[in-house]
Amino acid sequence: MKIDPAKILRFAKHRVRTAANEMRKTPLHGAIKIVRPYTMGESNALNNLHRLGRHIAQSGLPGDHVECGTFHGGSAAAAAIGFGPGTRTMWLYDSFEGLPEPKAIDGPDAAQWTGGCVGAIEKLNDILTKINVPENRICIRKGWFQDTFVEPLPEKIALLHIDADWYDSVALALDTFYDRVVEGGVIVLDDFGYWEGCREAFYDFCIKKKIKPLIERCGVAQAWWIKGKDNNR
Ligand SMILES: C[S@@+](CC[C@H](N)C(=O)[O-])C[C@H]1O[C@@H](n2cnc3c(N)ncnc32)[C@H](O)[C@@H]1O
Repeated sequence: MKIDPAKILRFAKHRVRTAANEMRKTPLHGAIKIVRPYTMGESNALNNLHRLGRHIAQSGLPGDHVECGTFHGGSAAAAAIGFGPGTRTMWLYDSFEGLPEPKAIDGPDAAQWTGGCVGAIEKLNDILTKINVPENRICIRKGWFQDTFVEPLPEKIALLHIDADWYDSVALALDTFYDRVVEGGVIVLDDFGYWEGCREAFYDFCIKKKIKPLIERCGVAQAWWIKGKDNNR
């Protein structure tokens, strides 16, 4: 039998689109149930990522999905389920060796977390397979941010999720990726209300870039904003 490669490609694309549409319909609690074993995130923060993913999908914004600090991949998957898995390239950055040493600016409680939160790349791959993200949509960058935030980098970003706790990590993520976020794209800081260093990095970045983001909050820790949005009228 002669196989028509164009037909196979059309069929594969159809399968990805169908899986993506089904996943996007997954209700919030369903998404949380799937990702829960792969994340240390709080349910309200995961729900919000899922919701923001949906919002971006519905507004048809261009751009990829970037997460700095993936651990086992649960929060990345929560947002991807909102997008519809496979509809956007996922750039996933983590040392998979745990947290680096903090600095004084990260506060007195931070030091005890050095080397904590060790993510497993196998678990990350496992959850991405479970939610049907095709391999050609996944870019996992293993290593310290200063070594992995190098070309090739995503050209356009629709969702930038920074969940990396310390001042230096958050500052480097904002410096590297913020200009690539499209107007209307979303930036999420997971540790804004939890770790002093994350908040300091955000304010220092705002001063440097002369921006005044309209910050929204979710729960005690997460903060997020829409690039270019000036008000909630
Ligand atoms: C709180 S965990 C992320 C939690 C995750 N998003 C989830 O769904 O549970 C923080 C992660 O950031 C990573 N990380 C922090 N700073 C980093 C750096 N400079 N380079 C590489 N990885 C870093 C750590 O390895 C750790 O896995």
